[in-house]
Amino acid sequence: MLSGHPRRDDVRARLVELDERNVAAARRTADAAGLKQVEVVAGDAASTDQYAGMVPADLVLVCGTLGNVSDADVERILDYCTRLCRTGGTLVWTRNRRSPDLVPQVCAWLEQRGFERLWVADPSLTQAVGAHRFTGEPRPLVPGQRMFDFVGYDVLRRS
Ligand SMILES: C[S@@+](CC[C@H](N)C(=O)[O-])C[C@H]1O[C@@H](n2cnc3c(N)ncnc32)[C@H](O)[C@@H]1O
Repeated sequence: MLSGHPRRDDVRARLVELDERNVAAARRTADAAGLKQVEVVAGDAASTDQYAGMVPADLVLVCGTLGNVSDADVERILDYCTRLCRTGGTLVWTRNRRSPDLVPQVCAWLEQRGFERLWVADPSLTQAVGAHRFTGEPRPLVPGQRMFDFVGYDVLRRS
């Protein structure tokens, strides 16, 4: 938990979420913990414009996203992570392991792009969490680009 961490006040973070209810809950939680540098933006996380001034970052969280986009967009997002993460920075990602399990491919796509595996949750768990460290040189993040289309797991399952 960030709120109890000894370096909590060194952390400058931006969370981007479309649903106003989730935004309000996240703002309340950050405010209650006195985390003044945690900014919660109500907006489209797919737009590279959201990350201006924050990248390349020490820590990039791609959580609740990779299971709700096409496989091509999973690869596109991971490619964008080479622009979001600083050298030595950590990417934490999540993805379900429902069949066909894409997690080995997620790891392969990252590792082809200069990310080294730090940890991946045990394959017996349906929800995978992984952490990869970026060893490459970040490329610039170009403003005005879309990184993915969030279609939702139910839509993907029907297609
Ligand atoms: C599976 S939930 C994950 C929530 C949270 N990140 C987590 O890991 O617990 C997906 C979230 O993505 C949000 N969402 C969907 N499309 C989005 C977009 N284009 N930009 C920002 N948030 C989006 C939804 O409102 C929903 O809260």
